[in-house]
Amino acid sequence: MKCVKCGQKAAINMRHHKLALCKDHFLEWIPAQTQRFIEKYRMFSLQDKVLVAVSGGKDSLSLWDILQRLGYQADGLYIGLGIDGGIGYSNESQRLCEEFAKSHGLRLRVVSVGAEFGETIPELSLRTIRGKEKPCAVCGLTKRHIMNRAARDGGYDVLATGHNLDDETATLLGNTLNWIPGYLVRQGPVLEADKPGLVRKVKPLCRIYERDMAAYAILRGIEYIYEECPHAVGSNSIFYKELLNNLEAERPGAKINFYVAFLQAKENGLFAAQADPDLDKLHACPSCGQPTSAPGMCAFCRMTAKA
Ligand code: AMP
Ligand code: FES
Ligand code: ZN
Ligand code: ZN
Repeated sequence: MKCVKCGQKAAINMRHHKLALCKDHFLEWIPAQTQRFIEKYRMFSLQDKVLVAVSGGKDSLSLWDILQRLGYQADGLYIGLGIDGGIGYSNESQRLCEEFAKSHGLRLRVVSVGAEFGETIPELSLRTIRGKEKPCAVCGLTKRHIMNRAARDGGYDVLATGHNLDDETATLLGNTLNWIPGYLVRQGPVLEADKPGLVRKVKPLCRIYERDMAAYAILRGIEYIYEECPHAVGSNSIFYKELLNNLEAERPGAKINFYVAFLQAKENGLFAAQADPDLDKLHACPSCGQPTSAPGMCAFCRMTAKA
């Protein structure tokens, strides 16, 4: 197999794009694609201050690398969740984020949930109904809260996450199988800051296959954590990713088609009549100032307030 651009030996064959590229051309192609989607979905410009949420995984560290290569001003945010799982998961992912920042001369902000709220994610979960089975719901709520607060208080224009096409299609499949119109309306490359106290959120890698992101990280020599979060085992999202991978193996391009056709259908007004049911009920949480539809304090503040 040869690179379609230079005829040298191809390092990667992307059947879903009918495109084979050598290492050098692939390492140029990924940032060019990312730039294309940043522009297409009007995510941010060179003047904007971007905060990239980095988990230590291949996608978010690669995203930080790509944004730097493209000339954007992007700081990193690492949230210390205090998850060990027998592999020192959080410590190792923090170390990798710090190493990356240091070696690239970039600024990393670190927020430790344990140090700031007195309890780590596993500890918080044990105490709340939300986390009775697995800490993932508590973790998701906490990450959203901290990401928003860090971006808002740090004066950033936008918060970027490393969600890739596989993450987005797994979420989309879940929302479609359960037919949850409220989530479907809000799913997309950009989540506008349409409520007071909310920061704009963007996913510049939303159209890039997970496999291609892994190849990018490896070929760029980015050191990242290979392990998934130990609590992710058996999650719906991993199950949906497997289903989609089986589909993709038989029908190359199925994932990108599913996602892009969904965005197109939305643009054509498929969910236009679907108003956000919580919109009227929103008010600022008296404790943290983030919008909430819950009466009184938001779910995060209620969870972290000790009884
Ligand atoms: P996940 O929900 O683990 O699939 O992660 C999705 C995205 O959320 C990642 O690509 C990161 O941008 C961000 N993220 C996940 N975990 C963390 C963390 N501990 N600190 C900062 N950002 C994170
Ligand atoms: Fe949050 Fe796994 S429970 S990353
Ligand atoms: Zn080439
Ligand atoms: Zn609050």
